[in-house]
Amino acid sequence: MADKTRLIVEGGDPAADPKAFRRALGSFPTGVSIITTPGLDAPAGVTANSFASVSLDPPLVLWSIAHTSRSHAAFRQSAHFAINILADDQVGVSQAFASASYDKFSLVDWHRGGTGSPLIDNALAYFDCVCEARHEGGDHTIMIGRVIEFGRSEGSPLAFSQGRYGITLDHPEVAAKARDRKFEEPGLDELPFLSLIAKAHYKEDADLEERRSAAGYTQVGSKVLAGLYQSAPLTADELARRMYLDRREVDDSLNEFLADGHVAIFDGHRFALTESGKQRRRQMIEYLSRYQAQSARSCDFGQRAEQLKNITVYSACEESWRLVRRQI
Ligand SMILES: Cc1cc2nc3c(=O)[nH]c(=O)nc-3n(C[C@H](O)[C@H](O)[C@H](O)COP(=O)(O)O)c2cc1C
Repeated sequence: MADKTRLIVEGGDPAADPKAFRRALGSFPTGVSIITTPGLDAPAGVTANSFASVSLDPPLVLWSIAHTSRSHAAFRQSAHFAINILADDQVGVSQAFASASYDKFSLVDWHRGGTGSPLIDNALAYFDCVCEARHEGGDHTIMIGRVIEFGRSEGSPLAFSQGRYGITLDHPEVAAKARDRKFEEPGLDELPFLSLIAKAHYKEDADLEERRSAAGYTQVGSKVLAGLYQSAPLTADELARRMYLDRREVDDSLNEFLADGHVAIFDGHRFALTESGKQRRRQMIEYLSRYQAQSARSCDFGQRAEQLKNITVYSACEESWRLVRRQI
Protein backbone atom coordinates (compact mmCIF):
# COMPACT_ATOMS: atom_id res chain seq x y z
CA MET A 1 0.00 0.00 0.00
CA ALA A 2 1.23 3.53 -0.78
CA ASP A 3 -0.16 6.98 0.04
CA LYS A 4 0.02 8.21 -3.55
CA THR A 5 0.24 7.05 -7.14
CA ARG A 6 3.69 7.41 -8.72
CA LEU A 7 4.16 7.79 -12.46
CA ILE A 8 7.17 6.25 -14.28
CA VAL A 9 9.24 9.30 -15.30
CA GLU A 10 11.95 7.40 -17.22
CA GLY A 11 12.72 3.78 -18.11
CA GLY A 12 13.04 1.23 -20.90
CA ASP A 13 16.20 -0.38 -22.33
CA PRO A 14 19.20 0.39 -20.03
CA ALA A 15 21.51 0.52 -23.08
CA ALA A 16 19.45 3.34 -24.60
CA ASP A 17 19.90 5.64 -21.59
CA PRO A 18 22.66 4.48 -19.19
CA LYS A 19 22.38 7.66 -17.07
CA ALA A 20 18.68 7.05 -16.47
CA PHE A 21 19.53 3.42 -15.63
CA ARG A 22 22.11 4.65 -13.06
CA ARG A 23 19.51 7.04 -11.60
CA ALA A 24 17.04 4.15 -11.24
CA LEU A 25 19.71 2.04 -9.48
CA GLY A 26 20.34 5.00 -7.18
CA SER A 27 16.74 4.71 -5.92
CA PHE A 28 18.01 1.91 -3.70
CA PRO A 29 19.63 3.56 -0.65
CA THR A 30 22.88 2.10 0.66
CA GLY A 31 25.54 2.79 3.25
CA VAL A 32 29.03 3.96 2.28
CA SER A 33 32.19 1.89 2.71
CA ILE A 34 35.90 2.31 2.07
CA ILE A 35 37.47 -0.89 0.77
CA THR A 36 41.21 -1.11 1.31
CA THR A 37 43.95 -3.54 0.43
CA PRO A 38 47.63 -3.72 1.47
CA GLY A 39 48.60 -3.71 -2.24
CA LEU A 40 51.95 -4.88 -3.55
CA ASP A 41 53.91 -1.62 -3.16
CA ALA A 42 51.50 0.70 -1.35
CA PRO A 43 48.00 0.44 0.13
CA ALA A 44 45.05 1.12 -2.16
CA GLY A 45 41.48 2.09 -1.32
CA VAL A 46 38.20 3.12 -2.94
CA THR A 47 34.82 4.38 -1.79
CA ALA A 48 32.18 1.75 -2.56
CA ASN A 49 28.46 1.32 -1.98
CA SER A 50 28.25 -2.06 -3.75
CA PHE A 51 29.02 -3.84 -0.45
CA ALA A 52 26.56 -6.58 0.56
CA SER A 53 26.50 -9.41 3.04
CA VAL A 54 26.34 -12.87 1.44
CA SER A 55 26.50 -15.62 4.04
CA LEU A 56 26.69 -16.00 7.82
CA ASP A 57 28.22 -19.49 7.82
CA PRO A 58 30.78 -19.28 6.37
CA PRO A 59 31.00 -15.49 6.93
CA LEU A 60 31.08 -14.08 3.38
CA VAL A 61 30.64 -10.56 2.00
CA LEU A 62 30.92 -9.07 -1.50
CA TRP A 63 31.50 -5.82 -3.34
CA SER A 64 32.36 -4.90 -6.92
CA ILE A 65 35.03 -2.69 -8.46
CA ALA A 66 34.91 -1.00 -11.88
CA HIS A 67 37.55 -2.14 -14.40
CA THR A 68 38.29 1.56 -14.97
CA SER A 69 39.25 2.11 -11.31
CA ARG A 70 42.97 2.84 -10.95
CA SER A 71 42.98 0.55 -7.90
CA HIS A 72 41.56 -2.40 -9.86
CA ALA A 73 44.97 -4.06 -10.39
CA ALA A 74 45.88 -3.73 -6.70
CA PHE A 75 42.63 -5.46 -5.64
CA ARG A 76 43.01 -8.13 -8.34
CA GLN A 77 46.52 -9.01 -7.18
CA SER A 78 46.04 -8.87 -3.41
CA ALA A 79 44.91 -11.82 -1.30
CA HIS A 80 43.29 -9.54 1.29
CA PHE A 81 40.94 -6.60 1.59
CA ALA A 82 39.11 -4.81 4.41
CA ILE A 83 35.69 -3.19 4.36
CA ASN A 84 35.28 -0.05 6.48
CA ILE A 85 31.67 1.06 7.03
CA LEU A 86 31.58 4.84 7.40
CA ALA A 87 29.78 6.76 10.14
CA ASP A 88 27.62 9.83 9.47
CA ASP A 89 30.48 12.24 10.30
CA GLN A 90 32.81 10.73 7.66
CA VAL A 91 31.63 12.33 4.40
CA GLY A 92 35.15 13.77 4.01
CA VAL A 93 36.66 10.26 4.16
CA SER A 94 34.22 9.08 1.48
CA GLN A 95 35.13 12.01 -0.74
CA ALA A 96 38.87 11.44 -0.25
CA PHE A 97 38.64 7.80 -1.41
CA ALA A 98 36.24 8.61 -4.27
CA SER A 99 38.67 11.22 -5.60
CA ALA A 100 41.46 10.94 -8.15
CA SER A 101 44.06 11.67 -5.43
CA TYR A 102 47.21 9.54 -5.57
CA ASP A 103 47.79 9.96 -1.85
CA LYS A 104 44.41 9.09 -0.29
CA PHE A 105 45.89 7.54 2.85
CA SER A 106 47.66 10.76 3.85
CA LEU A 107 44.22 12.42 4.09
CA VAL A 108 42.83 10.15 6.86
CA ASP A 109 43.94 8.43 10.07
CA TRP A 110 44.29 4.66 9.73
CA HIS A 111 46.13 1.63 11.06
CA ARG A 112 46.75 -1.89 9.78
CA GLY A 113 44.40 -4.77 10.62
CA GLY A 114 45.41 -8.39 11.19
CA THR A 115 45.66 -9.22 7.46
CA GLY A 116 47.66 -6.05 6.75
CA SER A 117 44.75 -4.21 5.10
CA PRO A 118 44.34 -0.59 6.24
CA LEU A 119 41.51 0.04 8.74
CA ILE A 120 40.10 3.59 8.79
CA ASP A 121 40.05 5.10 12.29
CA ASN A 122 36.61 5.80 13.78
CA ALA A 123 34.66 3.87 11.14
CA LEU A 124 31.37 2.39 12.33
CA ALA A 125 32.37 -1.20 11.56
CA TYR A 126 35.09 -3.12 9.76
CA PHE A 127 35.40 -6.54 8.15
CA ASP A 128 38.96 -7.76 7.58
CA CYS A 129 38.81 -10.35 4.79
CA VAL A 130 40.72 -12.95 2.83
CA CYS A 131 39.71 -12.76 -0.83
CA GLU A 132 37.73 -15.98 -1.40
CA ALA A 133 36.74 -15.55 -5.07
CA ARG A 134 36.61 -13.06 -7.93
CA HIS A 135 33.98 -13.10 -10.68
CA GLU A 136 33.79 -10.96 -13.77
CA GLY A 137 30.45 -9.15 -14.01
CA GLY A 138 30.31 -6.93 -17.10
CA ASP A 139 32.43 -3.81 -16.54
CA HIS A 140 33.01 -4.69 -12.84
CA THR A 141 34.87 -7.43 -10.95
CA ILE A 142 32.88 -8.91 -8.08
CA MET A 143 35.07 -9.62 -5.04
CA ILE A 144 33.92 -12.15 -2.46
CA GLY A 145 35.65 -12.04 0.90
CA ARG A 146 35.73 -14.40 3.87
CA VAL A 147 35.65 -12.33 7.06
CA ILE A 148 38.58 -13.19 9.35
CA GLU A 149 37.88 -10.51 11.91
CA PHE A 150 35.27 -7.79 12.39
CA GLY A 151 34.64 -4.86 14.72
CA ARG A 152 31.63 -2.63 15.42
CA SER A 153 31.34 0.73 17.19
CA GLU A 154 28.24 2.59 18.37
CA GLY A 155 27.00 5.38 16.11
CA SER A 156 24.93 6.15 13.03
CA PRO A 157 25.87 5.17 9.49
CA LEU A 158 26.52 7.46 6.56
CA ALA A 159 23.85 6.82 3.92
CA PHE A 160 23.86 7.29 0.16
CA SER A 161 20.77 7.58 -1.99
CA GLN A 162 19.87 9.18 -5.34
CA GLY A 163 23.45 10.41 -5.77
CA ARG A 164 23.55 12.21 -2.42
CA TYR A 165 24.90 11.61 1.06
CA GLY A 166 22.32 11.33 3.82
CA ILE A 167 21.71 10.26 7.38
CA THR A 168 19.28 7.68 8.70
CA LEU A 169 16.40 8.81 10.90
CA ASP A 170 13.37 6.99 12.23
CA HIS A 171 10.49 7.28 9.81
CA PRO A 172 8.18 10.04 11.18
CA GLU A 173 5.19 7.67 11.26
CA VAL A 174 7.15 5.03 13.15
CA ALA A 175 8.50 7.68 15.54
CA ALA A 176 4.97 9.03 16.10
CA LYS A 177 3.61 5.55 16.84
CA ALA A 178 6.44 4.88 19.29
CA ARG A 179 5.73 8.24 20.93
CA ASP A 180 1.99 7.51 21.25
CA ARG A 181 2.77 4.19 22.87
CA LYS A 182 5.11 5.88 25.33
CA PHE A 183 2.46 8.45 26.23
CA GLU A 184 0.09 5.63 27.15
CA GLU A 185 2.49 4.56 29.87
CA PRO A 186 2.03 6.75 32.94
CA GLY A 187 5.15 8.60 34.05
CA LEU A 188 6.94 8.27 30.71
CA ASP A 189 7.27 11.46 28.71
CA GLU A 190 9.07 12.60 25.59
CA LEU A 191 9.66 15.86 23.76
CA PRO A 192 7.00 15.78 21.00
CA PHE A 193 8.34 18.82 19.13
CA LEU A 194 11.35 16.88 17.85
CA SER A 195 9.19 14.41 15.97
CA LEU A 196 6.84 17.23 14.88
CA ILE A 197 9.78 19.08 13.35
CA ALA A 198 11.00 15.87 11.69
CA LYS A 199 7.50 15.25 10.32
CA ALA A 200 7.19 18.81 8.98
CA HIS A 201 10.63 18.59 7.35
CA TYR A 202 9.84 15.19 5.82
CA LYS A 203 6.58 16.42 4.32
CA GLU A 204 8.00 19.71 3.00
CA ASP A 205 11.01 17.93 1.50
CA ALA A 206 8.85 15.33 -0.27
CA ASP A 207 6.52 18.05 -1.66
CA LEU A 208 9.44 20.16 -2.84
CA GLU A 209 11.15 17.19 -4.51
CA GLU A 210 7.98 16.30 -6.39
CA ARG A 211 7.50 19.87 -7.64
CA ARG A 212 11.17 20.31 -8.46
CA SER A 213 11.25 17.24 -10.70
CA ALA A 214 7.93 18.24 -12.31
CA ALA A 215 9.61 21.57 -13.19
CA GLY A 216 12.51 19.69 -14.83
CA TYR A 217 15.14 20.13 -12.09
CA THR A 218 16.95 17.18 -10.51
CA GLN A 219 18.52 17.42 -7.04
CA VAL A 220 22.02 16.77 -8.39
CA GLY A 221 21.52 19.20 -11.31
CA SER A 222 20.33 21.89 -8.89
CA LYS A 223 23.39 21.38 -6.69
CA VAL A 224 25.79 21.46 -9.65
CA LEU A 225 24.30 24.79 -10.81
CA ALA A 226 24.44 26.14 -7.24
CA GLY A 227 28.09 25.05 -6.79
CA LEU A 228 29.23 26.68 -10.03
CA TYR A 229 27.13 29.82 -9.44
CA GLN A 230 28.90 30.51 -6.16
CA SER A 231 32.49 30.22 -7.31
CA ALA A 232 35.27 30.61 -9.84
CA PRO A 233 35.65 27.76 -12.40
CA LEU A 234 35.94 24.37 -10.65
CA THR A 235 37.17 20.92 -11.65
CA ALA A 236 34.59 18.10 -11.47
CA ASP A 237 36.41 16.73 -8.39
CA GLU A 238 36.30 20.10 -6.60
CA LEU A 239 32.61 20.48 -7.44
CA ALA A 240 31.79 16.98 -6.13
CA ARG A 241 33.67 17.70 -2.87
CA ARG A 242 32.17 21.14 -2.39
CA MET A 243 28.57 20.01 -2.96
CA TYR A 244 28.90 16.56 -1.30
CA LEU A 245 27.98 14.72 -4.50
CA ASP A 246 29.10 11.51 -6.17
CA ARG A 247 31.73 12.36 -8.79
CA ARG A 248 30.00 10.09 -11.37
CA GLU A 249 26.70 11.95 -10.92
CA VAL A 250 28.56 15.26 -11.26
CA ASP A 251 30.11 14.06 -14.55
CA ASP A 252 26.68 13.07 -15.91
CA SER A 253 25.15 16.37 -14.90
CA LEU A 254 28.05 18.44 -16.29
CA ASN A 255 27.78 16.61 -19.63
CA GLU A 256 24.08 17.44 -19.81
CA PHE A 257 24.70 21.11 -18.97
CA LEU A 258 27.57 21.25 -21.52
CA ALA A 259 25.22 19.88 -24.20
CA ASP A 260 22.53 22.43 -23.23
CA GLY A 261 25.09 25.27 -23.29
CA HIS A 262 24.58 26.09 -19.58
CA VAL A 263 28.20 25.19 -18.72
CA ALA A 264 31.52 25.91 -20.48
CA ILE A 265 34.99 24.36 -20.03
CA PHE A 266 38.08 26.43 -19.14
CA ASP A 267 41.73 25.24 -19.34
CA GLY A 268 40.44 21.84 -20.53
CA HIS A 269 39.29 20.69 -17.08
CA ARG A 270 37.54 23.53 -15.20
CA PHE A 271 33.82 24.21 -15.47
CA ALA A 272 31.87 27.47 -15.15
CA LEU A 273 28.31 28.62 -15.82
CA THR A 274 27.58 30.43 -19.07
CA GLU A 275 25.07 33.32 -19.11
CA SER A 276 22.26 30.84 -19.85
CA GLY A 277 23.46 28.64 -16.95
CA LYS A 278 23.36 31.61 -14.57
CA GLN A 279 19.90 32.46 -15.89
CA ARG A 280 18.73 28.88 -15.21
CA ARG A 281 20.10 29.05 -11.66
CA ARG A 282 18.29 32.37 -11.05
CA GLN A 283 15.04 30.88 -12.42
CA MET A 284 15.48 27.99 -10.02
CA ILE A 285 15.96 30.30 -7.02
CA GLU A 286 12.84 32.25 -8.02
CA TYR A 287 10.94 28.99 -8.37
CA LEU A 288 12.02 27.85 -4.89
CA SER A 289 11.13 31.23 -3.33
CA ARG A 290 7.68 31.08 -4.93
CA TYR A 291 7.23 27.53 -3.64
CA GLN A 292 8.24 28.58 -0.12
CA ALA A 293 5.89 31.57 -0.10
CA GLN A 294 3.02 29.46 -1.41
CA SER A 295 3.69 26.72 1.12
CA ALA A 296 3.71 29.26 3.98
CA ARG A 297 0.41 30.76 2.72
CA SER A 298 -1.31 27.38 2.49
CA CYS A 299 -0.51 26.62 6.13
CA ASP A 300 -3.36 27.66 8.48
CA PHE A 301 -2.73 30.06 11.33
CA GLY A 302 -3.23 27.51 14.12
CA GLN A 303 -0.72 25.17 12.49
CA ARG A 304 1.81 27.97 11.99
CA ALA A 305 1.51 29.12 15.60
CA GLU A 306 2.08 25.54 16.70
CA GLN A 307 5.12 25.17 14.40
CA LEU A 308 6.54 28.47 15.61
CA LYS A 309 6.09 27.44 19.23
CA ASN A 310 7.83 24.13 18.56
CA ILE A 311 10.74 25.78 16.81
CA THR A 312 11.10 28.35 19.60
CA VAL A 313 11.13 25.66 22.28
CA TYR A 314 13.58 23.62 20.21
CA SER A 315 15.91 26.59 19.68
CA ALA A 316 15.77 27.38 23.40
CA CYS A 317 16.80 23.79 24.17
CA GLU A 318 19.62 23.96 21.62
CA GLU A 319 20.83 27.23 23.17
CA SER A 320 20.83 25.81 26.71
CA TRP A 321 22.69 22.74 25.49
CA ARG A 322 25.28 24.98 23.90
CA LEU A 323 25.70 26.83 27.22
CA VAL A 324 25.95 23.57 29.17
CA ARG A 325 28.55 22.24 26.73
CA ARG A 326 30.56 25.46 27.01
CA GLN A 327 30.59 25.12 30.79
CA ILE A 328 31.75 21.50 30.59
C1 LIG B 1 29.12 6.76 -2.63
C2 LIG B 1 30.04 6.17 -3.68
C3 LIG B 1 29.99 4.82 -3.95
C4 LIG B 1 30.83 4.24 -4.89
N1 LIG B 1 30.77 2.89 -5.11
C5 LIG B 1 31.63 2.30 -5.96
C6 LIG B 1 31.65 0.88 -6.10
O1 LIG B 1 30.91 0.15 -5.47
N2 LIG B 1 32.55 0.34 -6.98
C7 LIG B 1 33.43 1.12 -7.70
O2 LIG B 1 34.22 0.58 -8.48
N3 LIG B 1 33.43 2.48 -7.58
C8 LIG B 1 32.57 3.08 -6.71
N4 LIG B 1 32.60 4.45 -6.53
C9 LIG B 1 33.53 5.25 -7.33
C10 LIG B 1 34.96 5.15 -6.80
O3 LIG B 1 35.04 5.42 -5.42
C11 LIG B 1 35.82 6.18 -7.55
O4 LIG B 1 35.74 5.89 -8.93
C12 LIG B 1 37.26 6.22 -7.12
O5 LIG B 1 37.88 7.31 -7.75
C13 LIG B 1 38.05 5.04 -7.52
O6 LIG B 1 39.37 5.31 -7.10
P1 LIG B 1 40.64 4.92 -7.97
O7 LIG B 1 40.36 5.33 -9.38
O8 LIG B 1 41.77 5.66 -7.31
O9 LIG B 1 40.78 3.44 -7.86
C14 LIG B 1 31.76 5.05 -5.59
C15 LIG B 1 31.82 6.42 -5.32
C16 LIG B 1 30.97 6.98 -4.37
C17 LIG B 1 31.07 8.45 -4.05
